[in-house]
Amino acid sequence: MNFLIINGSPRQKNTWKLVERAKQTLKNIDEKTQFTEINLINTQIPACTGCYNCFNHGENTCPHANIIQPIAEQMKTCDGLIITSPVYALNVTGLIKNLIDHLAYFYHRPYFFDKKAMIIVSTAGAGHKKVGKYLDETLRNWGYNERFKLMFTVSHDRHGYLPLNTKKKIDKESIRFYNSIQKGTLKSPSMNAMVMYNVWRAMAKNGHIPADKKYWIENNMLDSEYYPGIPCSIIKKLPMKIFYKIMLNFVGKNSVKAEE
Ligand SMILES: Cc1cc2nc3c(=O)[nH]c(=O)nc-3n(C[C@H](O)[C@H](O)[C@H](O)COP(=O)(O)O)c2cc1C
Repeated sequence: MNFLIINGSPRQKNTWKLVERAKQTLKNIDEKTQFTEINLINTQIPACTGCYNCFNHGENTCPHANIIQPIAEQMKTCDGLIITSPVYALNVTGLIKNLIDHLAYFYHRPYFFDKKAMIIVSTAGAGHKKVGKYLDETLRNWGYNERFKLMFTVSHDRHGYLPLNTKKKIDKESIRFYNSIQKGTLKSPSMNAMVMYNVWRAMAKNGHIPADKKYWIENNMLDSEYYPGIPCSIIKKLPMKIFYKIMLNFVGKNSVKAEE
């Protein structure tokens, strides 16, 4: 298996120590496990300019596509994503937020329905749950089928070793992450995931952003209440049929083009 690690810390220290433990655990399961690492600090992604090109004309027209698209491609081809951020001012780091802004087209055109991810967050004392939740929500909106979460207040002994309890939690979650990818079974989406899917589905159907409509049609996503092939009971689908109709009506009356 090949894991892509996107490191949102500008350094390889507290959060990285947690990542290294997870790497070691994944490697212990299978010594052929491989890791591709992207340290965002080295990618020099300029700030998102808010040009709307990705939304309106496709992600390849982003002025920073030469840096962003190779990252997006690796996210698409890896077996599992590990994304990390320390808490900065009760939020993700600017490095991670800038990447998320550049990839915001995945809200409109979600892709990662058969993918799983693990989120690793560290903090000195506060904000880790909120940051973990934000990253979870972001990846869920991009389609990620399952997200595993490790959020820690960093403490280590005078030799710099992680506490036993932290190591145990990392090991447990990393093994769950690995097994879930290896089994290849896909989870039924949460209601939150289905609601957001149907919001974007209605927007795409409405067609005020042609790039979105084209994507949803090409991927046969317009005709069902969740991405085709993902297990989903009729009990979950039924309320979405009604919600989608309401959304279509709402979007039809209220939509404006992104530039307007
Ligand atoms: C600019 C900055 C802002 C921070 N903001 C917070 C914060 O709001 N709450 C907190 O508990 N820790 C905060 N911290 C501490 C880091 O979250 C913590 O030390 C983290 O483990 C650092 O991870 P790293 O070594 O991977 O960079 C902040 C650190 C920096 C540099």
